[in-house]
Amino acid sequence: MKFVLFKKNENKVDRSNRILPQHVGIIMDGNGRWAKKRGMPRQAGHQAGASNFRKITRYCNSIGIKNLTVYAFSTENWRRPKDEVDALMNLFYDYLVEALADFREENIRTVFIGDVTAFDPKLQKLMKEAQDLSSDKTGMRLNIAMNYGGRSEMIKAIKEISAGVAEGSIKESDITPELVSAHLYTAGQPDPDLIIRPSGEYRTSNFLLWQSAYSEYIFMDDILWPDFSTENLEEALDEYSRRNRRFGGV
Ligand code: IPE
Ligand code: IPE
Ligand code: MG
Repeated sequence: MKFVLFKKNENKVDRSNRILPQHVGIIMDGNGRWAKKRGMPRQAGHQAGASNFRKITRYCNSIGIKNLTVYAFSTENWRRPKDEVDALMNLFYDYLVEALADFREENIRTVFIGDVTAFDPKLQKLMKEAQDLSSDKTGMRLNIAMNYGGRSEMIKAIKEISAGVAEGSIKESDITPELVSAHLYTAGQPDPDLIIRPSGEYRTSNFLLWQSAYSEYIFMDDILWPDFSTENLEEALDEYSRRNRRFGGV
């Protein structure tokens, strides 16, 4: 028996008249396997993945997605061999230098989510510059999740809230889902309506755990992140518009 999590649905969707998710999450997975298939080092896959990230990000903004969160580096990715982590850090550095020049013209507000204090100070400085330079942009808000983990994000919220309780600024009865959401990196943003993961892995890998309580997941087989195309994104948006969201109701 074959379990099919995302089956290409041939029922056509009118793309001009489709409900778009307000917030899309993407787990950019499969770079290593993409490189391996080509007999290239894993780093080459990350390079190709970074370039695809730019294409897809721009495209999302151009079609009117208001919030996009991409998973670039998890709190668990430090477990990889040192040479791979080093290569990723160099790539982030190069990306940020280029993005500072290149993304200037784009109407995209970039925010880094995750514990960025773990990164090299030079990288942190570039992140801050990229964030500050785009802070007045009115287009899509792009969250780049770097050293991000849903569990450590929740621990951050728990610590902030318990400190508030201890000093008396928060009462126990004030602790509601809204308050918790307000202490996450995505405070003020709608929860992701749609989360896409290519590469054939069917798990969340610690991505937006609290926020994804009612997200629609689309796990795409047969496509690795560097090959994920604008048409694949459109297919995911078509599929999203076919979903019947009930939020516990009927
Ligand atoms: C995703 O691709 C990029 C990061 C996690 C940084 P992978 O490197 O996980 O690629 P696979 O899953 O090994 O193919
Ligand atoms: C999730 O992918 C993290 C990112 C894409 C940044 P991983 O490749 O790290 O996830 P696992 O290890 O397969 O769960
Ligand atoms: Mg992976």
